[in-house]
Amino acid sequence: MQLFVDTADTGQIAELAATGLVDGVTTNPSLVARTGRDFRDVITEITQLVPGPVSAEVTETSCEGMVTQGRELASIAGNVVVKVPLTWEGLQACHVLAGQDDPIDVNVTLCFSATQALLAAKAGARFVSPFIGRLDDIGQNGMALIRDVVDIYRSYPRTLKTEVLVASVRGPGHVLEAAKLGADAATVPPGVLRQLVAHPLTDKGLAAFLADWEKAKASAGSRS
Ligand code: E4P
Repeated sequence: MQLFVDTADTGQIAELAATGLVDGVTTNPSLVARTGRDFRDVITEITQLVPGPVSAEVTETSCEGMVTQGRELASIAGNVVVKVPLTWEGLQACHVLAGQDDPIDVNVTLCFSATQALLAAKAGARFVSPFIGRLDDIGQNGMALIRDVVDIYRSYPRTLKTEVLVASVRGPGHVLEAAKLGADAATVPPGVLRQLVAHPLTDKGLAAFLADWEKAKASAGSRS
């Protein structure tokens, strides 16, 4: 499963990318606004930090506007994936961008139902982003949506080639369940990515190994 980091903070991205564990980055207008920086500058810098897909979201809402803005965003770098919202206009824009002679990869975002995901795939999206945390927040089952979308796409492998990019991830449990269901990718906040490696028994075990090693060195030193 691919792991993307869900942030526009280039400091965090640089640090995490250096581990070799980051396959891509997703941003959205809220995340970029939080940096207080120029949108194009931020996306340009991210594309230089991570060679994998970098999702940059349009802020236009008409199909025409999204197509124009999407082409502009895609011109920043070859690894930009244009993110459009799951609206009729967004799906039409996806169809245009993905279907042009020189196709542009599209991530259809703000997906909250399996029928929406079906339409995103039919529109030619490279990724669909079901927001599981936001569904959980309103008492629905985000992971059930992932199961449905994975099942539907698997039933039509010749025609539905869209990758399921699990989004709005709140913790390691979401990543684990998404991986067990066979989701193609998950995009996770930096803090959650760091939590994936943490285990108290790893820390405790390492401390014990190092203490024993120091003791052995000290007693070897006192014998020589
Ligand atoms: C995905 O691409 C979105 O940026 C993100 O996962 C939204 O998550 P949130 O619900 O935590 O804002």
